[in-house]
Amino acid sequence: MTRHFLKVTDLSPEEIRRVLDRARELKCEPIGRAFAGRTVALIFHKPSTRTRVSFSVGVHQQGGMPLYLGQGETQLGTSESIEDTARVLSRYVDAVVIRTFAQADVEAFAEAATVPVINGLTDERHPCQALTDIFTFEESFPASRGRTITYLGDGNNVAASLGAAAALTGIHLNLALPEGYDLPDAMMEELRGLSQAYGTMLEVFRDPVAAVRDSSALYTDVWISMGQSETAEKLRALEPFRVDEELLASSAPDAVVMHCLPAHRGSEITDAVLDGANSVVFDQAENRLHVQKALLEFLLAEEGK
Ligand code: CP
Repeated sequence: MTRHFLKVTDLSPEEIRRVLDRARELKCEPIGRAFAGRTVALIFHKPSTRTRVSFSVGVHQQGGMPLYLGQGETQLGTSESIEDTARVLSRYVDAVVIRTFAQADVEAFAEAATVPVINGLTDERHPCQALTDIFTFEESFPASRGRTITYLGDGNNVAASLGAAAALTGIHLNLALPEGYDLPDAMMEELRGLSQAYGTMLEVFRDPVAAVRDSSALYTDVWISMGQSETAEKLRALEPFRVDEELLASSAPDAVVMHCLPAHRGSEITDAVLDGANSVVFDQAENRLHVQKALLEFLLAEEGK
């Protein structure tokens, strides 16, 4: 059966654990033949440094060929439908990674595809990032179950997928968001359902200091996501949620600082914190490589069943 990874919950908690355990092995032994003779298409309709490069390098390191298809380089979306493109690419390649705007487009592509499809970010979700976030958090806190991550800033796709991944791995999540910049109601409902099902806590805070008090990680992301326009009102609302040394000092002394990157230094996070001793941000970026290789390996193995 073809398995896709369009959202975190496309994997069970046990499958996530298998992928993260395998990623730990791959981090120690990155070169192999797991994807020998395989081709992975990378369809990107938005810019990317980490997702594009980590998937490309990861496939190459395991003997496969990454095939980058940028915006305007295929017939997709202009003279060919999403479904027909999915059917045709499935005849050539062994898996597809897509970064685009609408979650519905990735779902339509996967519905028609006969090879695994991976969501490399949509406006709604960023599940590969979220798996990596948990992997990175567990490097600092191997006994992660019952600890708390606080996400601060804009209620966006990264926060949404982090929330799902935290619930499925037994980690509590605080969302420190200014009023008016919450996650969409449907997403909050989904996250509350997951948190209830897996026995974790999910709490929304308007006060960033209260939010980080007992946290093991402070996580932030850009305030203005790709494709959004900057407004003075939004920046004003987010100002108190900046991750700076004062806020970091309000959390546990061993708390780590996380950011999915790219960072807008001086905006959502200060240089001192991003480059400081508590930051695991560049490990987080590196770990995309290991986790996505393990994910691809898992999905391709499922094809053979
Ligand atoms: N974090 C992340 O997805 O980075 P890119 O946008 O550079 O891929």
